[in-house]
Amino acid sequence: MNMTHLGEVADAISKSDYFVALTGAGISKESNVPTFRGEDGLWRQYNAMELATPSAFAKNPSLVWEWYAWRQKLIGECEPNPAHKTLALWEQRGILKSLITQNVDGLHIRAGSKDVLEVHGDLWTVKCIACDHRERLQIAAVGIPSCPKCNNHLRPDVVWFGESLNPEIMKKVYAQLEQADTCMVIGTSALVQPAASFPLIVKRHSGIVIEINLEETVLTPVVDFHISGKAGEILPELDELLNKFR
Ligand code: APR
Repeated sequence: MNMTHLGEVADAISKSDYFVALTGAGISKESNVPTFRGEDGLWRQYNAMELATPSAFAKNPSLVWEWYAWRQKLIGECEPNPAHKTLALWEQRGILKSLITQNVDGLHIRAGSKDVLEVHGDLWTVKCIACDHRERLQIAAVGIPSCPKCNNHLRPDVVWFGESLNPEIMKKVYAQLEQADTCMVIGTSALVQPAASFPLIVKRHSGIVIEINLEETVLTPVVDFHISGKAGEILPELDELLNKFR
C-alpha cells in the first residue's frame, strides 16, 4: 500500500465540502457476497439473461425466484465488513454526504448507513407484477410469492437488465452528484450504465474522483487517485489518517 497515496487521499477528503461515495459488489466481497464479473463472479456461473431480465421472469418465474431465493439465503448469512462500517461512520461524522450503491444486498443499511441511494433496488423488497403492492421479505422467498392483494406473482424489486432505474431515486442521485466536489468509487467494474458514468459527472465540474479497487477498471484512466487493494482494509486505514486531520 502506498501510504503517501493514502495520505493524499485522506487530505483530499478532509478538504472536501461535499464528499459522496459510489459502491459496487466489490465492497461486499469481504462479507462473502459474490461479485458479478470477477473470476468467481456470478455472471461467470450463471447466464444473467436467463435470470435477471423481465423476459426471463415471464418465461420461467420459478427459476428466477430459485436464484434470487438462493442469493437471499446466502446474503442473509453475510455481515457488513469494515468497509461498510467505515462509510456509516463517515456519514455519522458528517464527512460523507451521500452513499450511492449499485448493490442490492442491504449491507450498507445493516452497517448503519442511513442515507443510501440503492439505484439497483433491494434484494429483500418484492413487488407485484400487476398491482402496486410492495413488501419487504424478512426471510428468503419460498417458491413464487403471490400478491396478497391480487394474487399475481411477486417479483424481486431489483433493476433487471433492460429496465430503467427508479426516476425518484435518480433525481436524488443526480442532485448529489451535482453538489459533490469529491467522489469515492469503491469496488465496481464501472461497466454498467448509468452508474458507471456517475463519477464522470463529478469530474465534469472539476471534482476529485478516488477509486478503490483490487484492479484497474475502465474508470482508472480518468480518476485522480487509484488505490489498489481491498476496500475492507483501505477504508479503515483512511479513517485512521482522517482522524489525524480532526
Ligand atoms: N475491494 C475492492 N474492490 C474489489 C474487491 C475488494 N475486496 N473485490 C472485488 N473488487 C472489485 C473487482 O475488481 C471489480 O472491479 O469489485 C468490482 C466488482 O465488479 P462487478 O462484479 O462487475 O460488480 P459491479 O461493478 O457492482 O456490477 C455492477 O452489474 O450485474 C449488474 O446489477 C448488477 O449492480 C451490478 C452491476
